[in-house]
Amino acid sequence: LIRSFTGIFRTVRNASNMAFQLKRVLISDSLDPCCAKILESNGIAVDTNTKLTKEQLVAEIPKYDGLIVRSATKVTAAVIEAATNLKIIGRAGTGVDNIDLNASSKKGVIVMNTPSGNTLSAAEHTCAMICAMSRNIPQAHMSMKSGKWDRKAFMGSELYGKTLGIIGLGRIGKEVALRMQSFGMTTIGFDPIIPASVSAEFNTEWMTLDKLWPLADYITVHTPLIPQTKGLLNDETFGKCKKGVHVLNIARGGIIDEDALARALKSGQCGGAALDVFVEEPPTNRDLVDHPNLVATPHLGASTAEAQKRVAEEIGQQFVDLVQGKRLEGG
Ligand code: NAD
Ligand code: MLT
Repeated sequence: LIRSFTGIFRTVRNASNMAFQLKRVLISDSLDPCCAKILESNGIAVDTNTKLTKEQLVAEIPKYDGLIVRSATKVTAAVIEAATNLKIIGRAGTGVDNIDLNASSKKGVIVMNTPSGNTLSAAEHTCAMICAMSRNIPQAHMSMKSGKWDRKAFMGSELYGKTLGIIGLGRIGKEVALRMQSFGMTTIGFDPIIPASVSAEFNTEWMTLDKLWPLADYITVHTPLIPQTKGLLNDETFGKCKKGVHVLNIARGGIIDEDALARALKSGQCGGAALDVFVEEPPTNRDLVDHPNLVATPHLGASTAEAQKRVAEEIGQQFVDLVQGKRLEGG
């Protein structure tokens, strides 16, 4: 699970032969306390400071040989260059896009993540968003909270018999497929790495994107944000979809082009969208966020007590395993 990033993750070395000493670790994002407990009970000192500015992090980092983050801390080249003792950066979560992997590779700093600890939470959040969209639950809730009783404005549509297109059939994509099939949805999908024989095991027909676009009533993306997936849904691909298609992005901001989405919502080509992630977080594109057919959450996919405990425990244990020279299992 020691990884570097070159568009896709790849294993760079086997940690089991490396002698590792970690004296002091900084936790700079809000994490379940079990992570600090695991480290401390194995003789590693821990400081938790979730309020550091960029400049303060650069000033503080030389004191530490380990750093643990979620997504709020941006581990930029400036931070890594200032880190005279840093050996390892841990991401309690999946995406490592807030860590400058080129800078860490150059400096020989190991980057590790916990890719499966929040899979179920992110999949459940996606399913909840599909349900919320199909029955206008957030809009109806807001209407009732404002004192109204409007039964006409919120006509929904059943999921039963509809087709869900899943782009990215990895950990989360697969769990979404399995759950939405219980609503009677047909699941189809595309992934350049997962073959049709594997997606067939979870009842999902693999097909090319050109075949998928016109068939799907709902499209959900579960890929990393890489050059090949940036703007995957754009003016051209929205044009290939069914009129009124519903789209979701619980993965990374920018996989669905936000300006193209705003245009598609305006024209009705897109009948509804659900976003948990944004190009800028918090988002500045209020036209998009305020659109009545857009359901939005502030990057909550992994925000459950269970997922946060799992990722905190996993990253703490991975640090300890490294110190103890144990073999690390990749996820
Ligand atoms: P994963 O690595 O298990 O699956 C990603 C899949 O995307 C892989 O199978 C890969 O082959 C596929 N892929 C790569 N390029 C593609 C392309 N061009 N077209 C189609 N598929 C492509 O990852 P995962 O754990 O399922 O996570 C998926 C995404 O969700 C990541 O971006 C992750 O950071 C994000 N995530 C978000 C939250 C949240 O809080 N919203 C929580 C967890 C994960
Ligand atoms: C992830 O990549 O794990 C998610 O975005 C959740 C998080 O920010 O922790």
